[in-house]
Amino acid sequence: MNPNIPGEQLLTLAKEYGLPLFVYDAQTITRQISKLQQAFTVPDFQIRYACKALTTVGILQHIYAKGCGIDTVSAGEIQVALKAGVPPEMISFTPSGVLLQEYAYALDQGVHVHVDQLHVLEWIDRHYPNTAITLRFNPGIVAGGHLKLQVGAEDSKFGIHISQVEKVKALTNTLSLTVAGVHMHLGSDIGSSGSFDEAYEYVLNASRHWIDTIERIDLGGGFKIPYHPNDQRIDIMSFGQRVSDRFKAFCQEVGRDITLIVEPGKYLVSEAGHLLMEVSGTRDIGQTGLAYVSTGFNHFVRPMNYDAYHHIVNLSNPQGEVARFDVVGYLCETDTFALERDINTIRRGDILCLMNAGAYGFSMASNYNTRPRPAEVLIDEEGNARLIRRAETLGDVLRTDIGFSI
Ligand code: LLP
Repeated sequence: MNPNIPGEQLLTLAKEYGLPLFVYDAQTITRQISKLQQAFTVPDFQIRYACKALTTVGILQHIYAKGCGIDTVSAGEIQVALKAGVPPEMISFTPSGVLLQEYAYALDQGVHVHVDQLHVLEWIDRHYPNTAITLRFNPGIVAGGHLKLQVGAEDSKFGIHISQVEKVKALTNTLSLTVAGVHMHLGSDIGSSGSFDEAYEYVLNASRHWIDTIERIDLGGGFKIPYHPNDQRIDIMSFGQRVSDRFKAFCQEVGRDITLIVEPGKYLVSEAGHLLMEVSGTRDIGQTGLAYVSTGFNHFVRPMNYDAYHHIVNLSNPQGEVARFDVVGYLCETDTFALERDINTIRRGDILCLMNAGAYGFSMASNYNTRPRPAEVLIDEEGNARLIRRAETLGDVLRTDIGFSI
């Protein structure tokens, strides 16, 4: 597993911008978008990038330029999408458990909303009559790479349970709203497409209740990418083909084209990202060496939060003898990036690259231990490095902390 960007170039960027640093590769994002566009062959297909995965404006600009819309979960994400030049009709809003004010913000911007609670439907009907909305259903199917990444279980907080479809139909019959879409999202890191097959059958069936007004069916995201060198990729070509065939038959039965939407986050940006980090020290303990890096789960939380495997490469000692290391962060609590990894010998001052850092890396970063968040650089399709977010300063971090001054 090598970085998508040559090691030499990453080392140059490390010098130029300082560490830690996120570096993304636009070509990889474009490649992932093209794969989906080729796999799904329905006449009306849309990718709506789930921008929670990596919300930086420059990334959204690139993804929108490649023909995708954007899926958002908060007023903040809607603002980022608008700032990136994405028109409201290419933005959707799929929140979970937010206050009505946040729906109001989305609706005022002309953004299409996905509704997953009945009181929200009633409220939108009262305040925004005749609006076209999408209903989010939970098909009640467990899928996803980690317990925390499964959102489709029976008792999940996400979506209206599919068993309530008749009840929702009875309610929408009394409202002025147009049900223009049906949505589902099963979870993240889903490596086998079998659970999707089962789930979208439920969702297609649910959509029949509003078939005269349905314009879009949204299958959510969650397509797995390989984190570990031995991980399987989801076979997106055969999956896309199967969904497309099923969907075409459905459209034929209905007698018109309906837009098929997918909402990937990880699939588009994960492999494009690299987190560069500097080794602040090493220690020999028994068989396994210990390498401390000057970043931590404040900047990249996936290993600690989901026990996620992220491959680590020693950029500055690529020919060094391979030895076994734990790689740990600088936070003052357990902060582990990797255990028992075979890596080219790590020395103080080396620069390591943590792979697959594009999705849920920067977007989940925090200021824990009062540390500023890193800069982000995008290598554009011509190979030019573009700074798309400067590093935070300590001043940025402290600005809102006003003590007893008022
Ligand atoms: N659509 C909806 C409604 C979602 O909630 C999500 C992700 C997606 C699409 C995109 O899922 P993806 O294609 O990225 O798997 N922080 C976790 C992932 C959380 C996913 C939350 N929802 C991680 O680092 O693995």
